[in-house]
Amino acid sequence: MRKKVTATVISQRRIADGIYDMWIKTDLAMYAHAGQFVGVYTKDPSKLLPRPISICEISDDFKSMRLVYRVNGESSGTADISTLEENDTVKILGVLGNGYEFIKIFGEDLSGATDVVLMGGGIGIPPILQLSKELHAHGIKHTVIAGYRDSQLFLNRDLAKYGTLEIATEDGSIGVKGNVLDVVAEKKINTGVILACGPLPMLRAIKKYAESSNNNRNVKAYISLEERMACGVGACLGCVCKTTHKDDHSNVNNTRICTDGPVFDSADVMI
Ligand SMILES: Cc1cc2nc3c(=O)[nH]c(=O)nc-3n(C[C@H](O)[C@H](O)[C@H](O)COP(=O)(O)OP(=O)(O)OC[C@H]3O[C@@H](n4cnc5c(N)ncnc54)[C@H](O)[C@@H]3O)c2cc1C
Ligand code: FES
Repeated sequence: MRKKVTATVISQRRIADGIYDMWIKTDLAMYAHAGQFVGVYTKDPSKLLPRPISICEISDDFKSMRLVYRVNGESSGTADISTLEENDTVKILGVLGNGYEFIKIFGEDLSGATDVVLMGGGIGIPPILQLSKELHAHGIKHTVIAGYRDSQLFLNRDLAKYGTLEIATEDGSIGVKGNVLDVVAEKKINTGVILACGPLPMLRAIKKYAESSNNNRNVKAYISLEERMACGVGACLGCVCKTTHKDDHSNVNNTRICTDGPVFDSADVMI
């Protein structure tokens, strides 16, 4: 289901330095899953392109969704979006992309869902919340590792609701000092399936970790990639990523992050 709709802002608040938490009322929530995203249009009509923002949470009645995003400077589109207030309307294009597809990842009967570890880094943490919520709804036990720069945590209370939460901070002020993989090593966490979203260096490290573990532990990793996006619907080819195999249709080693992803098996993409 993909359409452009007008949503109503339910609430908007700043939850950390430059990070905003907005709930919007939209029937798109009914069709959305963890790892998918929406395009949020700005109030300023000169900024034509919608900003891709992941679905952070879907309300229990499936009537609203939560978006948590970072503002990138004063004149950015995200700064414009952060000025939206309760009862304002906002145009949204969605639901976009393919998220974390449980049947594909864990198998029809979800029997592959053992030692599931979610990893979110920085502004890649928001989609991990909805993912954790959906895994919990399916009765799948999991560990959530959230990596922050410093003690300015966000979404940590929500993340602790559905899985076992571990924290990493780069400055060591809270939790394990270092990144999400340092937590795995320090706490000796078993990793069967890793589901991740975060900055490219973190995703590269996770891909490498899964590949280097393959001989003895058969670790699989599914990672959500980010790229500058224009259309968001597969038309402009602005978001392509190199793949390890050729696309049947075009016979090239490319994939579009907006429509084929953003979530990929880490073994399938060259990052
Ligand atoms: C699938 C996906 C999910 C995302 N989810 C989130 C999220 O949940 N929270 C969050 O804070 N950020 C998220 N991002 C990043 C977010 O889209 C960018 O930070 C945002 O578009 C930047 O827009 P701007 O107006 O602040 O910056 P500007 O520099 O004014 O943007 C200019 C143009 O470049 C595009 N652009 C710039 N940076 C990015 C980027 N990193 N990714 C894609 N397009 C970009 C903008 O959409 C816009 O069209 C996501 C990106 C993708 C691709
Ligand atoms: S953003 Fe246009 S093809 Fe992906």
